[in-house]
This record gives sequence, C-alpha cells and structure tokens, in this order.
Amino acid sequence: MLAYSQDRPNPRDLRARILSSFTEQTLPMPPVELRRSVGHEGTEHFENPYGVLAFGGDVPIANYRRVLDFGCGCGRVARQMLLQREIVPERFLGLDLYEPSIQWCRDNLRQPGFEFRHLNAHNVGLNPSGVRHAELGTDEQFTLINAHSVFTHIVEPDLDYYFEQCARALSHDGVLRTTWFLFDKINFPMMQEFQNCLYINPDDPSNAAIYDVKFVRELFARHGLTITTAHPPEMRGHQWLLYAQRGAGPHVAFRPDLAPTGLARPPASIDG
Ligand SMILES: C[S@@+](CC[C@H](N)C(=O)[O-])C[C@H]1O[C@@H](n2cnc3c(N)ncnc32)[C@H](O)[C@@H]1O
Repeated sequence: MLAYSQDRPNPRDLRARILSSFTEQTLPMPPVELRRSVGHEGTEHFENPYGVLAFGGDVPIANYRRVLDFGCGCGRVARQMLLQREIVPERFLGLDLYEPSIQWCRDNLRQPGFEFRHLNAHNVGLNPSGVRHAELGTDEQFTLINAHSVFTHIVEPDLDYYFEQCARALSHDGVLRTTWFLFDKINFPMMQEFQNCLYINPDDPSNAAIYDVKFVRELFARHGLTITTAHPPEMRGHQWLLYAQRGAGPHVAFRPDLAPTGLARPPASIDG
C-alpha cells in the first residue's frame, strides 16, 4: 500500500457524476484481433462489471484524476476507468505505437478529457517505420501513470529514454504503476556490466525484455523515484507489479517469487 494521503476528492467535483452513464453493454469492446495484440484475448480482461477502481486499493482515489496510460494498447485500462463508479478521470491520455489500437480507441472511447495518440516509436512488427526514441509529446503532469506490460517489451538501449519521459510527466504527488519481467543477474556470470536484459526472440527482441532486478531498482532511484509497493508475479517468473512515487527514500524489499509455475506466452509480432 502507498504510504501517503488517501484524501478523497469532493464527490461534487467528480466527473463520475456526469460520465457514469456507461455500462458494460453500452461501452464498445475492442475486436478480438486487437485484444489478441495485447495478449488478452478474453473480454473479461477489459470489463469492469461492478464499476470498481481499476487498480483497487493500490492507488489512492484522488490519483485517478489525471491519468497517462503509456502503451495503452486497445484501451483495456481506459475502458475499465470509464466504468468506474467512484471517479472517472477528468483527463486520460493514452499513447501507443500500434496505430490500429489508437484508431479504435479514438473511434470508440470518446469522452471529454479522454485522448488517444499514436506514438511513433519503432517496433519490428507493430510499427516498423517508427523512430527509436519518440517523444511522448506532452508537458502535462499526471497524478497516475500506468505502463502495464510495456517496459516488459522495451529493449535495454531504449529503456532509460522512455522511463525518463514517464518519470518527468509524474506530478509531485503522482503514482507510477509499472510491470516488469525480472531476473537476478547474479546467476548469469557471463553477462557484461552493461548487459542487464535477457530476450526470448532474436527476430523481435521486444517480444519480452527481462531485466536484472538490481538494475531496475537503480533505474527508479536514478530518476528520483522510490518503489513503494512490489507485488510478486501471480505466475512464477511472470510480471512484477511495481508502484513508485517521487522521493529518494529506500525502496521496499522485494519478496521471493514463490508463485505457482505456468505458461503465459506473449503474442509474437514476428515469429522466429
Ligand atoms: C502487452 S501490450 C499491453 C497493452 C496495455 N497496456 C494493456 O495493459 O492492455 C504492450 C503495449 O505496449 C505498446 N508499446 C510497447 N513499446 C511502446 C513504446 N515505446 N511506446 C508506446 N507504446 C509501446 C505496444 O504497442 C502494446 O500495445
């Protein structure tokens, strides 16, 4: 849990009052091809039938006001937040390099304050003509920045660039929510000092980028962020969920990953 103010905004100020007219039935669901492209084919991953906060008690309700969804895909989190009963973001900026996803979000998740922009970042399969380092193109400050299953696909030479841009867009009281594949480099004696990432697909290294845990903790510290909560994966070796906020305090300790083993193969934009 995050250790700061849990103040709730005045309900009279909540746009939820005017935006809560959505229901599961009236809000469009992305088509299966787009759901597949983000590794969540089942519609249940996009739904929010009880209108709960998308990230539950992990994020103070006031932080849902201004949201940046970096690597928003086809609007999974945007859709869930549009269905939240207690608060709907007054500002939601979704960025993604896959143009068909952005186009779908623009056409179907049309709400005041909600905006979806194509980020022209390179990806072998999803945006081959993109540039290596695309600017996020915003000088706004966000109270919640989400990057779910995104740094898990950004290769080491590009990581610092995108992480820095996210850190810069975080408001002074903001929460950064990220997920990571982690390993311990101590067990890989052949790795050079400058090598901190493992890949599974030589034809498209963005298929999965697995980072050294110490390197990731240092990355947060270098950008003035403290990791306040670390949820181990629900499946052994899968995604860690890290919450961070501004500050130079000590990071929370990471518990061992003792989750049951399983399979969660990412969709490959290029098959090896
Ligand atoms: C596994 S999907 C997750 C999508 C979404 N965050 C979700 O939770 O449903 C990863 C997404 O990150 C996007 N992505 C990867 N690298 C990116 C980058 N550098 N800039 C913007 N989007 C990126 C991909 O296009 C893809 O839509």
